[in-house]
Amino acid sequence: MIEELPLTQWQGPFDAAVKARALEALESGSVLYFPQLPFRLLESETEFLDARVADGKAKNISLDHTTGKMQASSLTGERAVRLAALMERFGSSAATLVNDLLPYQNVERARTSFRPVQVKGRSYSKISDDRLLHIDAFPTRPMHGRRILRFFANVAPSSPRHWHVGQPFEEFARRFLPQVGPHLPGKSWLYEKLGVTRGKRSLYDELMLSLHDAGKLDSDFQSNSQHQNVIFAPGSCWLVFTDQVLHAALGGEFALEQTFHLDVAQMREPARAPIRVLERLSGKALA
Ligand code: SIN
Ligand code: FE
Repeated sequence: MIEELPLTQWQGPFDAAVKARALEALESGSVLYFPQLPFRLLESETEFLDARVADGKAKNISLDHTTGKMQASSLTGERAVRLAALMERFGSSAATLVNDLLPYQNVERARTSFRPVQVKGRSYSKISDDRLLHIDAFPTRPMHGRRILRFFANVAPSSPRHWHVGQPFEEFARRFLPQVGPHLPGKSWLYEKLGVTRGKRSLYDELMLSLHDAGKLDSDFQSNSQHQNVIFAPGSCWLVFTDQVLHAALGGEFALEQTFHLDVAQMREPARAPIRVLERLSGKALA
């Protein structure tokens, strides 16, 4: 489930054998782990390793690299500008690495996030508690089958980031598909009209959200389903299709994350995409 890669550089060219191993592992649902690839902060940026840089409401500080707009930070003025610059530097480094390591064309760079609050000890509703095993699905941004690929860096000086990684996507889908309710016709239309979603949810989006919720709400699944403990050391990075790999973040502080979106057709084996697995299991076109 964890594929360790010996990269020490953020930029290619990378060894052909390493690239082939990365692609196979990623698409088959492993986490690519880069233990020797620290994302370095400038001396002047270490002041941002402080939970108070978050506004205390949202889970993460986010940056839209197309507009430069940062959200959910308590910082203002010059300090806000420097934090945004740090996030931008991380996001563009992550994009270079993803583009140089993987054969995909047109990987779309989406939001960049900074997660400065200790995961342990926060309180959430079950549905928004990412300490419970889940696959990622966006409530407000319909994906129509497109993939969610995320690159993380643990920038904490000494705390590891602790994850659980769960069973393969297909096993999870087989367990929960029979119990997710029927799709309500009209709901996705209404959500778009009300501005709840940007664009209309497809059946795929509805199903992924239902699976996300059903898994988090099932305490037997949470306690007893097969999972692996994973420790991401301080100064390491990792890359994972979070719409496919069941994951839970149990502990840690100070992570950076860059999200990418990818068309299923770009994959070497599109049949491994969640949408294709769900279409096969349900016998329906989903987007
Ligand atoms: C998540 O995607 O569920 C959280 C991952 C993390 O912040 O480590
Ligand atoms: Fe997640």
